[in-house]
Amino acid sequence: MGSPAVVVKDLYVKYAVSVEWILKGLSLNVNRGEMLILMGPSGCGKSTLLYVIAGLIPWVVPGEVDGEVSVEGLNVTDLGYSKLAGVVGIVYQNPEMQVITRSVKEELAMVPENLGLPKDEVVSRVEWVADALDLHRYLDRDPQSLSGGEKQLIAIASVLTMKPRVLLLDEPTSMLDHKGTSLVLEVVSQLKREHGLTIIAAEHRVEWAVEVADRIAVMHEGRIVLIGEPQDVFSRVDEIEKYGVRPPGVSEVVYCLRRKSIEIPVPVRLKEAVEVFRL
Ligand SMILES: Nc1ncnc2c1ncn2[C@@H]1O[C@H](COP(=O)(O)OP(=O)(O)OP(=O)(O)O)[C@@H](O)[C@H]1O
Ligand SMILES: [Mg+2]
Repeated sequence: MGSPAVVVKDLYVKYAVSVEWILKGLSLNVNRGEMLILMGPSGCGKSTLLYVIAGLIPWVVPGEVDGEVSVEGLNVTDLGYSKLAGVVGIVYQNPEMQVITRSVKEELAMVPENLGLPKDEVVSRVEWVADALDLHRYLDRDPQSLSGGEKQLIAIASVLTMKPRVLLLDEPTSMLDHKGTSLVLEVVSQLKREHGLTIIAAEHRVEWAVEVADRIAVMHEGRIVLIGEPQDVFSRVDEIEKYGVRPPGVSEVVYCLRRKSIEIPVPVRLKEAVEVFRL
């Protein structure tokens, strides 16, 4: 798989107003073409980690960063977000932070235009994302008139038009309905397959996370305390609960059975649960 797409080494981060470090000696490698999902209780530092990888702290959001962060071989902490345009795309937790133009069409064209791409390439990227996420009916709408979930979908679409090499998604599905979530997953999987897109996403929805993640990293108080394939992470029942992460519903059922000394393997995904319960 070659060198990792994202390397984080012994990272300490605090905001200008913070008293203590928010990230405390965090290290992480993410391989090219991998989808890593960050989980952990509110305030453990998931968004902060994504902001640093995107080159936003300390360049846009004042703060202090110590340690090493590189993306596709670029030293993020030295270069800052502006030098990462076209390499790293971030979708914020709150889509209001992102949607700024007067029409959805303009919103989708903005990123490729800012990258200086030729007009026909801009048009073709807007068409591509509108097809992929079923957005044609919104193209002439004012983004401010959209619902929360619709805004979130547009925010994701506008970053996808960048076709970044590393995509950072902060709670991408928190406001999306089932159809929106599936469409986002489809297009992200396609980019991963065809272009080796690397994805790091913070996500609370565990059932979604286990279906899509290659690996899951559990964060607690500014550090990664568990990392591995979904199956490995969610087999460690006691540890997960200690760190405040809820396991998938199908795993929880099996944990309860195991406490009654019924020894069956722990499933994490629906299709594995079907196999386990068929016996
Ligand atoms: N701009 C900021 N200025 C100061 N402190 C901040 C800022 N943003 C976040 N923090 C603090 O940093 C810590 C980590 O916050 P962060 O947003 O990274 O958590 P999170 O894991 O993303 O939580 P959630 O699941 O609720 O989104 C929290 O204690 C938070 O209060
Ligand atoms: Mg967050």
